Parts: sequence; structure tokens; C-alpha cells
Amino acid sequence: MSEHLTQYARMQKAYYDEAPLAVEDIVGNYEFHENFPYETHLLHRYGDIRKPVLPDAARARGFEIGCGEGRMVRRMARLLAQVDGADISEKMVRAARARTPGAEIFLSAGADCGAAASSSYDFAYCAISLQHICVHDTRARILDDIVRILKPGACATLQFFFSKYYPYCRTAAPPVNEAFLVDVHHLDRRHARWFENRWDAAATNSACDVAFGTQDIPEVLADFRRWFGHAEVWFHDLSIGRPESRGSGRPALLAPTHPNCHGWEDTWFTHMAFFHLREPRK
Ligand SMILES: C[S@@+](CC[C@H](N)C(=O)[O-])C[C@H]1O[C@@H](n2cnc3c(N)ncnc32)[C@H](O)[C@@H]1O
Repeated sequence: MSEHLTQYARMQKAYYDEAPLAVEDIVGNYEFHENFPYETHLLHRYGDIRKPVLPDAARARGFEIGCGEGRMVRRMARLLAQVDGADISEKMVRAARARTPGAEIFLSAGADCGAAASSSYDFAYCAISLQHICVHDTRARILDDIVRILKPGACATLQFFFSKYYPYCRTAAPPVNEAFLVDVHHLDRRHARWFENRWDAAATNSACDVAFGTQDIPEVLADFRRWFGHAEVWFHDLSIGRPESRGSGRPALLAPTHPNCHGWEDTWFTHMAFFHLREPRK
């Protein structure tokens, strides 16, 4: 790895390993994520159960990049024949190995799938992990390695966050009085643009993520086509259940753990993006 990528990986590893947090708190919003229907979105095009990405999921070998303490490995293992994973954090890998019997959990150096065997998986996926990597070159190395471990003809679904307004983000609830309502969005400087390499970021896991918006979609898809012959994306709206933000004081429509409600108002993203990738360029 280049010096820049090594520096970023060192920061990420220290961030996850040295945080005095329970592994569930590192995942963050654990209850929300456990209520979110990831299986539907990862295993079906456009979240449509008539359109499975795998011809025979029950016989498939799956791999999770950035698997954390194994939450999604355990869930996906109920649907696939075998699920393994890799993570940069020794603390998360230890927890995943203890909590996820039957899975092989590898330690990643921060830009790879660890010691996972080449050409041996039918499906690779990520949930709330690659979105936290604000270095395009690191994600590129991970994509190289995902292609390495996939069988020819295998596929992947990778989840990221997206905002239809990006690079503008709402700063706070809009000020309102009897004469006007001002809905202020600021130009984001906290997160990285898709092709940016923020290798000197001081933090990760939502402190400095990768972000993209409506106008970026064609370039982002073209980027994924460097590794896969076929790439498509669709968006699950996370904004519709949020509290009414226009000063009415109306509470959230949906419970904080409802799959359509992200539970807090000041977050930059409006949607989860699911990239369906086929035909790995091996
Ligand atoms: C928010 S947690 C999500 C864990 C799991 N995917 C889940 O859905 O519960 C993000 C995980 O990504 C891992 N991660 C972040 N950057 C990584 C990298 N460069 N390589 C491998 N794992 C990484 C972290 O260690 C952490 O366990």
C-alpha cells in the first residue's frame, strides 16, 4: 500500500480499535439497522423480491466487507449456504468470530478482503461500511480485492448513502416566523466527494464519509464499471418518516426504529443507495 493509504488505514484501525465503545455502539443505531430490511435490498434488484440477484441463493457463498461484529453475516447466513467476512478492526473481528459460528472472519489491512480465497464467492456485499471510507483509492483497492475473491460470473450489492441535495446539506431545522420560512442548506465540507482522497482525515464512521448527489450518479456508475461489466443503482428513501421539519412542531410520523425513519433530522443523506454489480472484470 502507498504511504497515504497506509496512513488512512492506520487512522481507521485505531479509531475502531481504541474507541471505548461496545461493538454495538460502533455499528451505531444498532436497533434501527436491525429493523432495516437489508436482505431484501442486498439480494434483490431494486428491492423487488421478484428479481433475485442470485440464481440459487441457498447454495451461494457470500462475503461481507466491513462485517463489524457480524450482525449482517448472521442475518445473511440464514439465506445463503455460507457467509464469511472481513473487517479492519481486531476488536470487531474478535467479536464476530465469537458471535458468528460457522463463518470465517478475516482481518483486513484496510484495503482488502483479508486472507479470503480467490475466485471462491458467488456474492459480495457491504452494509454501512464502505460509506465510511472517504478515500477513493482505498475503496478502489477494496474493489480490486472483491473482484479477486468473486467467482467469474458472480455478483455484488454494495450499499452507500446518498442525498438528492448533495453537496448541499441542511444545517439545522429551518427558521420560521409569521412572515417567512428559510430552509438553509450549506455546502458540505465534512464529507468527501466520490473521487476525493481524504487520506489525512482524522476520523471515520460518520465523522468523514463519502457522499454523492443526483448530478454525480452517472460518474459514480461509470466508476463501478471499471470493476464490473454491469452496474446499476437504486435508492431507498430514508427521509419520508422523519419529523416534520418546517417548524410545525409535528413529531416524527414513524417510530425511530421503523425502516423508513432514520430517527434524526440533521443527517446529510436522504436515501440509502444500493449498487447492483455483475460481471466482475477478472
Ligand atoms: C458501522 S460498522 C458496520 C458493521 C456491519 N457491516 C454492520 O452492518 O453491522 C462499520 C464497520 O466497517 C469496518 N471498516 C471500516 N473501514 C474499513 C476498511 N477500510 N476495511 C475493512 N473494514 C472497515 C469497521 O471496522 C466497522 O466494523
